Amino acid sequence: MVPEKEIVSSKDICIRTKQHKWPILAFICGVVLTLTIVVPLMVSRPPSSQKDDKTDYACSLRFDRKSTHSLLFLSDDNTVMANSFSEETPNAVIHPEQLNTYKGTIGDKWLTNTSKIYFEINFSYEILSSFMNNSNNLVVEVGVTSRKEIDNNFYAGNIGWSFLIHNCFSYICLTAMSMMSNIREQIKVMSLVNTAGTAATGRLGFFINMNRREFSIIDKDTLKILYTLKKVESADQLCLAFAIYNPELVEAKLEIMYSYDFTSLPIINVIA
Ligand SMILES: *[C@@H]1O[C@H](CO)[C@@H](O)[C@H](O)[C@H]1NC(C)=O
Ligand SMILES: *[C@@H]1O[C@H](CO)[C@@H](O)[C@H](O)[C@H]1NC(C)=O
Ligand SMILES: *[C@@H]1O[C@H](CO)[C@@H](O)[C@H](O)[C@H]1NC(C)=O
Repeated sequence: MVPEKEIVSSKDICIRTKQHKWPILAFICGVVLTLTIVVPLMVSRPPSSQKDDKTDYACSLRFDRKSTHSLLFLSDDNTVMANSFSEETPNAVIHPEQLNTYKGTIGDKWLTNTSKIYFEINFSYEILSSFMNNSNNLVVEVGVTSRKEIDNNFYAGNIGWSFLIHNCFSYICLTAMSMMSNIREQIKVMSLVNTAGTAATGRLGFFINMNRREFSIIDKDTLKILYTLKKVESADQLCLAFAIYNPELVEAKLEIMYSYDFTSLPIINVIA
């Protein structure tokens, strides 16, 4: 990690308006419209077909169990990952293919040059032992990175593109990271202090549009796009990356709530 001073270079910790705000907003409207149409249809399907996750747009994104680092724990259905054992996350992973450096896992869907995937994550954390002011302590990460290189780094934003919740000065913030593009931009304060007992939960949306080479984060509370990372491209196979750090300092959890694959949806092609 870079010195914290560099991470929090900007005083503006509010939402940024980016170049592609309108196309993305239009897309989100498309998504929301689609969801309002598709979800009721899915819900109203007869029980016999409800087991089939693969409707046209719903995709069953999960954490990839065999890739999961040995310090992490998964739920039985691989939708919840935590850095501590619990009733909800009872499964530790010992597998020859698991990641050993990256304290996380990959998504079980590969990204292609045309992928358009939207997913929502519920996160929660509780600080067990006060973070040191100005430390670089990490809490969780959601990113896109090279499958080949992922395990050579502690966080995906190092060689890829990611959104990290971590210690900033004396509080907890959300930062957009892409070290290769020199991006480390604080986008939101998640907790005002970093002392033991500090806890937070929330829901974040993520949209990967490989057609546009963009990876966006959406605040579900305000329905705003918080940040869009650009030039998401590589000659390597790209994958989704999820990490949870520092189990001795913080108890944290990521849960995949919904995922939709709009790659083949024509209306998105028109809008985006
Ligand atoms: C960390 O910084 C905050 C805000 O400046 C301050 O209130 C707190 O006492 C500091 N904590 C330590 C351990 O120095
Ligand atoms: C997910 O997060 C939202 C927003 O914080 C919350 O209302 C909801 O109860 C959470 N759901 C679960 C299953 O944790
Ligand atoms: C995807 O795009 C990248 C960058 O433009 C390129 O290097 C790569 O070969 C492409 N992959 C495929 C399968 O087309």
